[in-house]
Amino acid sequence: MAASTTAGSTVVEVVDLHKSFGSNHVLQGLNATIRQGEVVCVIGPSGSGKSTFLRCINLLEEPTSGSIKVGGDEVTDPDCDIDAIRRNMGMVFQQFNLFPHLSVLDNCTIAQTTVLGRSKDEAQAKARENLEKVGISEKESAFPAQLSGGQQQRVAIARALSMDPKLMLFDEPTSALDPELVGDVLSVMRRLASEGMTMFVVTHEMAFAREVADRVIFMDGGNIVEEGSPEQVIGTPTEERTKVFLQRVLDPTHVEPGAEDEAYLKRHVADAAGGVDESLPGTHGRYTGGSGLG
Ligand SMILES: Nc1ncnc2c1ncn2[C@@H]1O[C@H](COP(=O)(O)OP(=O)(O)O)[C@@H](O)[C@H]1O
Ligand SMILES: [Mg+2]
Repeated sequence: MAASTTAGSTVVEVVDLHKSFGSNHVLQGLNATIRQGEVVCVIGPSGSGKSTFLRCINLLEEPTSGSIKVGGDEVTDPDCDIDAIRRNMGMVFQQFNLFPHLSVLDNCTIAQTTVLGRSKDEAQAKARENLEKVGISEKESAFPAQLSGGQQQRVAIARALSMDPKLMLFDEPTSALDPELVGDVLSVMRRLASEGMTMFVVTHEMAFAREVADRVIFMDGGNIVEEGSPEQVIGTPTEERTKVFLQRVLDPTHVEPGAEDEAYLKRHVADAAGGVDESLPGTHGRYTGGSGLG
C-alpha cells in the first residue's frame, strides 16, 4: 500500500527463531523484519506455526532460541521490560477475547486506566475516538454477548488501538466470523493500513493479502518457504509447496480425479450407513473438517 513509500525504521527484527513444544520443533529458524508502516501478511497451512510465530513476537510464547527485537529492544533478554514492550503491541485474536462482564466502553478503557495510568475521562475520550473509527460508537453501552462476532471483533480492534500501539498483531481476525461479517472487519483493517499502521497479520483472506499487504510470508512446517510482494507470492509463486497451498485455498473443493482420500471416503461410507462417530460430539459422523486452513 501507500504506506510502503514511507516505510523506514525497523519495528521488529527476528533472527533464527526456534520454538519447540517438547519434542515438537514448531519454528525451525525464522528470520523476518517488519518496518515502520508495513503490512506483512503471513499465510500457510494449519499447524505450520503461524500463531506460534506471532505469539513469540509479544512473548505470549517464550522462544526456545534466537533473537527478537521490537523497536530495538531485545525481548528475549531477561533484563528487558517486557510489559513496556508489550504496551507497544496491540493483539487481535481469532476469538475476540473481550471481557464478557464489561461494557464495550469499559472493555476499551480498562487497560488504559490500569496499565497506562490514564484518567477515566481521558481513557473514555480515546475509546470513543476508536469506537467511532471502527464504526461501532452506538454500541458503547452494550455487552459483548449482545453483539455479533463482527461487532465484537471491531471492539477488540478499538480496544487494542486505544493503547496507542506502534504495531498491531492480528491472528486470523476474521476466521471465526460468519462470511457476511468478514467484510466489515477487513475494511477496518484496510483503513488502519492506509493510515500507516504497522501490521503483522496472519490471515487466509487472500484477496485482502493481495490488496493490502506490502509483503507476504508463506510458512510451512515451521519454516518461511517463500516471501515477497503479494504479486510474487500469491500471483506467481516459485516454490512447489506455495503453489499446492494456494491451489487448495483458492479452490478448496477441487479434488484430483481418482485422488479422493481414503479418510474422506470412509466418512462418507459411515454416513451412508447412518454411522455416528461418538468421538466427534455434535457432528453426527459427518465430515466437518475444514479446508486445511487455520
Ligand atoms: N501451547 C502449545 N503447546 C503445545 N503445542 C503447541 C502449542 N501451541 C501450538 N502448538 C503446536 O505447534 C504447531 C503449530 O501450531 P500453530 O502455531 O498454532 O500453527 P498455525 O497457527 O499455523 O495453525 C502445532 O503442531 C501445534 O499443535
Ligand atoms: Mg493459528
